[in-house]
Amino acid sequence: MPAPHTDAIAWGPDGSVRVLDQTALPAEVRWLTITSVEAMIEAIRSLRVRGAPLIGIAAAMGLAAEAARLVAEARAPQPSPHNWPTGEWLEAACRRLAAARPTAVNLRHAIERMQRAGLEAMRSGAAGPDLAQRLRTEAQAIWDGDAAMCQAIGEYGQALIGPGARILTHCNTGMLATGGIGTALGVVYLAHQRGRAVSVIATETRPLGQGARLTAWELTRAGIPCRVIVDGAAAWMMARREVDVVIVGADRIAANGDVANKIGTYGLALLARAHGIPFYVAAPRSTFDLASPSGEAIPIEERPASEIAGGLEGLSAFNPAFDVTPGALVTAIVTDQGVLRPPYGPSIAALGR
Ligand code: MRU
Repeated sequence: MPAPHTDAIAWGPDGSVRVLDQTALPAEVRWLTITSVEAMIEAIRSLRVRGAPLIGIAAAMGLAAEAARLVAEARAPQPSPHNWPTGEWLEAACRRLAAARPTAVNLRHAIERMQRAGLEAMRSGAAGPDLAQRLRTEAQAIWDGDAAMCQAIGEYGQALIGPGARILTHCNTGMLATGGIGTALGVVYLAHQRGRAVSVIATETRPLGQGARLTAWELTRAGIPCRVIVDGAAAWMMARREVDVVIVGADRIAANGDVANKIGTYGLALLARAHGIPFYVAAPRSTFDLASPSGEAIPIEERPASEIAGGLEGLSAFNPAFDVTPGALVTAIVTDQGVLRPPYGPSIAALGR
């Protein structure tokens, strides 16, 4: 039985974008309507919309939504032609969107695609509504492409999952994080659909609870057995031989196979190695960054102390949102083009773009 589909984003009326506010889950299913680049940046920064592939899609849709609004405003009874989407507007909006979160390279890739599409359209004479339509078409293509890549990752991942596998995963990499069935969770969804009797151990994912709130919510809706653990319980579960395999997603994979993903991933990879458990990363080609030779070149987002400091005024804190797992600890990387095995440098260089 296919999982109930959970789009975390949708087109709204008059070219607007509707975003499922993930900060409210699982208590409340609340949708926001977004018509401006600034509002989309706020939604991305505050993790209302999150997950590397989804923030790329959301940023692209936010750009298209603002273009549609500017066109509508310029046509309103009191026209304001200075608002007409221009080349300067496109350039500035893309720059601001690409900087909304630093680590997920999918965001930069999506925005570069949007900028290219917009500039090409303008060069061929498109303006106003035609330009806005072109941007919407490109945003939809990014979304559709991501959904197809998730499906392919899910298919390739089946070779790595035995019947009855107890799969430990971190953060949320499913329908709430992508434009399709997910990356690491996409592998889980397809295994479940094919009757492989898999179950999931979802780490809570400190400090914002993407595992306990979002992965647990998604999997419960899909009828996939899921147990939540605090992050600190992973070692003990592995020692008790309750974990067969670890699969996580990625925010950026460097040219040598180093993987930036949610803080705590590196620790899980070390634990998996210590316990002889395979550690897999699942990611589409939009997550690979050939311009980062190794993990050292990946910018790591630091988030406010208030997320972890429990309200204590003036407390000093260090709150990195991601860490880097050396490629040497990764058993295999499942991509939409197949399963890569170490050494990663040559196989990553050979990935189609
Ligand atoms: O801060 P988040 O919730 O956006 O972090 C998300 C992750 O770390 C995911 O593992 C990653 O983006 C892959 S999602 C398919």
